[in-house]
Amino acid sequence: MALININPTKTTSWKNLQNHFELIKEVQMKTFFQKDNSRKEKFSLNFDEFSIDYSKNRITEETLKYLFELAKESELKDAIDKYFNGDKINETENRAVLHTALRNKNTNEVLVDGNNIMPEIKQTLTKIKGFTKQIVNGELKGYTGKAFTDVVNIGIGGSDLGPRMVVESLHYYKNHLNTHFVSNIDGDHVTEVIKNLNPETTLFVIVSKTFTTQETLTNAETIKKWFLQSASEKDIASNFVAVSTNLEKVKDFGIAENNIFTMWNWVGGRYSLWSAVGLSISLAIGFENFDAFLNGAFKMDEHFKNTSFEENIPVTLALISIWYNNFFDTESEVVIPYTQYLEKLAPFLQQLSMESNGKSVDRNGEKVTYQTGNIIWGNTGTNVQHAFMQLVHQGTKIIPVDFIGFEESLYGNKDHHQKLMANFYAQAEALYAGKTAEEVHLDMKFKGDANKINQLLPFKVFEGNRPSNAILIKKLTPKNLGALIAMYEHKTFVQGVIWNIYSFDQFGVELGKELANKFLT
Ligand code: F6P
Repeated sequence: MALININPTKTTSWKNLQNHFELIKEVQMKTFFQKDNSRKEKFSLNFDEFSIDYSKNRITEETLKYLFELAKESELKDAIDKYFNGDKINETENRAVLHTALRNKNTNEVLVDGNNIMPEIKQTLTKIKGFTKQIVNGELKGYTGKAFTDVVNIGIGGSDLGPRMVVESLHYYKNHLNTHFVSNIDGDHVTEVIKNLNPETTLFVIVSKTFTTQETLTNAETIKKWFLQSASEKDIASNFVAVSTNLEKVKDFGIAENNIFTMWNWVGGRYSLWSAVGLSISLAIGFENFDAFLNGAFKMDEHFKNTSFEENIPVTLALISIWYNNFFDTESEVVIPYTQYLEKLAPFLQQLSMESNGKSVDRNGEKVTYQTGNIIWGNTGTNVQHAFMQLVHQGTKIIPVDFIGFEESLYGNKDHHQKLMANFYAQAEALYAGKTAEEVHLDMKFKGDANKINQLLPFKVFEGNRPSNAILIKKLTPKNLGALIAMYEHKTFVQGVIWNIYSFDQFGVELGKELANKFLT
């Protein structure tokens, strides 16, 4: 069944939020903390090895009450049930949305058009497992009988960003295989990647749900030509595999039937890293770690599905984000992980959120009269503190931040980790508390700069009252990364439901593709 259509701005809770916004829009978060010394405990959520502190937001208990009412009035519970049950909630493409089934560890059936899809998911996972084992232990070899040393993932968008982000994020867990990614149609990209590779010991994984994407097919053809300079057509069967729904086109490319990993049209590209699209992840870190990654996402799914809205991490984060986007008119959100491993998280989240919710027509086909998808951006701390944080601290815009930190580092360097986490906490505190003119005055006097006070004081003031969430996770493990990604997937889903838009199509990418073909001709 389809999602229920409700214009959020016509709900009672939206009107309550509007009135409430007028009352609290100027209030300092400091006042909220002064009035309630249990605010930090009240505005925090725990799940497995995650703890989320959302107390440094411009919200009160009343704000949350109206936001949760908005979720209820928007029939979010019904939408969540339909999402997990395989209803065709991707109505414009007449498809179910079942990336959650790919990591489902329950024994329940998941039906699409009356067929249980769990057996074929398990079959594919078994194939990924067996293939990974044989490649990693050298049993499966390249066309000249040598074990593989390198893997090249050829794909773009969801067939690149997810696997690339996870492979880089879990680099600590990697085995001897080196993984490379070719995505851009820019020929220099593919040339740079293959120039130092040995075709004999390189496994090429062509990932394309449709197997019609210009970039991926062009790159795959270029690599095939390069490969055939030293190998013959029949050798393609040893060194090339593909992940796709389009089996005919894959076979036409010359890939052996046994080397095809299927995926399904009920998995969207940007949600597909849990499927065989994640083959390069499994190859890079081993199947056990890949499975732990799926498990982490499954745990977050269970949390999302079964927890009341008030205790629900993705629901709460989505609603707070809506509060800023639709009432404070913030427009953008920044995600700052305090680990270098998560450098590719922001580009991944950009596709996840912006391709999903960058829509301006509602589920009735009407132009929306309110803001939808946020602009997502970010990079890693502490690097960003020496780059864009100036604007976040003192610029004219309010930019809500998600800080992501880890209690433990992977190599256990305490000195570095304490400094890293001191910065993680300090940034949130600085945004929240700011620095008043009086404080700047005192500070300058104390530092012996009294003579510069008149000249510099206004520039050194920090208004504060800038919001952030602190997402603290025990350790960067495959399981916790899986849960983190699932958390953002569900946050995106909740926002799309409430904004009454279709989050699972992407017609907005088509026009550019069509015109590029015309220009090419
Ligand atoms: O850019 C649009 C898009 O369809 C994405 O949604 C998708 O992830 C990407 O292109 C790649 O598509 P495919 O996996 O079919 O090559």
